Amino acid sequence: MKKILTLLSLAFAAMTATAQVYLDPNAPIEERVQDALSRMTTHEKIKILHAQSKFTSAGVPRLGIRQLNMDDGPHGVREELEWNTWSVARWTNDSIVAFPSLTCLTATWNRDLSALYGHSVSEEFAFRGKDIMLGPGVNIQRTPMNGRAFEYMGEDPFLAGEMVVPYIQSAQKNGVACCLKHFVLNDQEIDRFNVNVNVSERAMREIYLFPFKRAVDKAHVYTIMGSYNLWNGDHCCHNDALLNGILKKEWGWDGALVSDWGGTTNTMQAAYGGLDIEMGTYTDGKVKEAQHGYSAYYLADPFEKLINEGKIPMEVLDEKAARVLRTIFRTSMNPQKVIGFQCSEAHYDACRQIGEEGIVLLKNEKGMLPLDASRYKRILVVGENATRSLTQGGGSSELKTLYDVSPWEAFNSQLSTANCQLTLAQGYKSGRSVYDHVDKVDSSINDSLRSAALEAAKQADLIIFVGGFNKNHKQDCENGDRESYDLPFGQSALISALAKIQPNLIIVTFGGNPYAMPWLPQAKALLHCWYLGSEAGDALANILTGKVNPSGKLPVTFAKRLEDYPYAKFGQEAYPGITDVKVPANSAGEVPHRQVYYKEDIYVGYRGFDKDKVQPLFPFGFGLSYTTFAYGKPTATVQGDNIVLSVAVTNTGKVAGKEVVQIYASAPANKSLPKPQKELKGFGKTRLLAPGESETLTITIPRSDLASWNESTHQWQVDGGTYTLSVAASAADVRQKVNVNIP
Ligand code: BGC
Repeated sequence: MKKILTLLSLAFAAMTATAQVYLDPNAPIEERVQDALSRMTTHEKIKILHAQSKFTSAGVPRLGIRQLNMDDGPHGVREELEWNTWSVARWTNDSIVAFPSLTCLTATWNRDLSALYGHSVSEEFAFRGKDIMLGPGVNIQRTPMNGRAFEYMGEDPFLAGEMVVPYIQSAQKNGVACCLKHFVLNDQEIDRFNVNVNVSERAMREIYLFPFKRAVDKAHVYTIMGSYNLWNGDHCCHNDALLNGILKKEWGWDGALVSDWGGTTNTMQAAYGGLDIEMGTYTDGKVKEAQHGYSAYYLADPFEKLINEGKIPMEVLDEKAARVLRTIFRTSMNPQKVIGFQCSEAHYDACRQIGEEGIVLLKNEKGMLPLDASRYKRILVVGENATRSLTQGGGSSELKTLYDVSPWEAFNSQLSTANCQLTLAQGYKSGRSVYDHVDKVDSSINDSLRSAALEAAKQADLIIFVGGFNKNHKQDCENGDRESYDLPFGQSALISALAKIQPNLIIVTFGGNPYAMPWLPQAKALLHCWYLGSEAGDALANILTGKVNPSGKLPVTFAKRLEDYPYAKFGQEAYPGITDVKVPANSAGEVPHRQVYYKEDIYVGYRGFDKDKVQPLFPFGFGLSYTTFAYGKPTATVQGDNIVLSVAVTNTGKVAGKEVVQIYASAPANKSLPKPQKELKGFGKTRLLAPGESETLTITIPRSDLASWNESTHQWQVDGGTYTLSVAASAADVRQKVNVNIP
């Protein structure tokens, strides 16, 4: 009997030893990871750490472990590319919905819409068989020159952090990982591969790392993309202090760090610097891209050799492989992963709704808007963006859409009537949207387009100008920053000339950044639209006509002049950096050739405008509505570790509308560190309030959100004392104040 029992227990042990826990969808992920790891050879572990094509990394076919399929991001699924090159694959079934740009989403200040965005876009990724979407991005908009600002979430770390969390949560609920980018300090495109950022410890923590930390803490983001630039002399794709020190150890993040494409430069640093998946490494220049063996990547053969020779311990490899396996079990082998859907009606609805709530009404003189088209007989629409597809261009976020509704199409269906005739004049020409290439437009073409528009203006009784930026190189596009704060392609002069002919002038601009508006006094109304995606025209027309009341507010300060931005007074050193400075080489022997110094420190955006006492053109948080709102007396109480603030908001106008309420905290007089005059620490948006209707918003501010980073103790610290909470409609429009004592 004893013998039988022993045999049975041995058989049971053998069975459990071979039970494929890693394939059991109901087993805890950590058990699946450890089980898979224990079955993999060194070579198999190495293979999952780097690309096997432009946008996939390998699984372990022998064990039935699936690969990871990735794609850009962040506004929709990128057109399918060839397996080994950047050329398009010419599929006929990869046309998708382009969602509004992340600046637009942020301008909604609506967390529910962020969740809807993440849910909808991840369904499209799932449908296309993708496991990781390369986005969203939360780099801070410290300069309006940044060519990629449209892909990010504005100038304020709290707003960006709060708005990114629901996006990630709902995308990941669908089994699609977000790859939050670009970690960190990728705040300019000039010399993005080789700029070393010098920033104070405090600004690093309070401004630049803050939204990433929020995404780690609150949304448990599965993957993060390292940025190209350097911090403290090391590339951020393998920067030990940043990735191991802060992200993995201090924050306890358990996800996989993906390199930006071509951001890995060295095997030892890749091994020890916190990188987990190496993507897009460029060729050595001797072979064509398509022939460059993925086994030549830094984390491939060269890494395997060092492991096999015992020069790098196996734990380093195991740690990376475990993170990649975890990602695989969370996504491609996640039984909860959805099948998804492409171009559903619900996705277009989401796209339009986000666009409508993100459009910001900046000026509306004498109730010019909402537009009653029946009052006009001849409306002239001027500007290239009235017809141009703005979902193309921009670099990696470029999209191939099933359809885009242009403003011109939507105006035709919503504004034109038997009595009202619409005509179109292009006004200016910007050229094709070609990545990394500034199209030269023949000036004679622009002269004749301009004359034609001015001629047509004489016949019109209303002009709607639809311009701004596009996604050409050095506009809103990767790998290049803007070169001027002015509107491009001679638009400002054209607008002024149009206004002289017909003062009934409505300006509509697209773009990710603020810009100079010398013509502002001449415009009757102004709407800024960021980028609105596939439903651009409908969203815009619905706002123009008042079908939807605008409720977007600026996520970035619009300055009168470029010189007014807080960094600008520090000259080239602060942006775009200087090249004639000697710095020591890093451990890999590299010397970055550009150094940029974030001399404005924590005083980025409105924090700096407040400090410098500079009046912006339009402050952070600003946006008009077709109605008005009154704010009641707020109350604020300390409840445990939270401050709970309540304020009633009443629609005092004649049409239904939503209001964004912003809470800015000002530190006590006895504060131990210098603090900005005020900082955004909470916000809420009302539901659609009918005229006369009120809603009480309750906004919770955790005490820990009042903390500052102390550079002497290298810790967060909250000063006790009396804080003033300003309840505001924008950074410059404080409606109510309430004091609260923090122990
Ligand atoms: C960009 C990333 C992008 C990647 C893949 C890089 O050049 O910086 O944001 O995800 O390419 O297209």
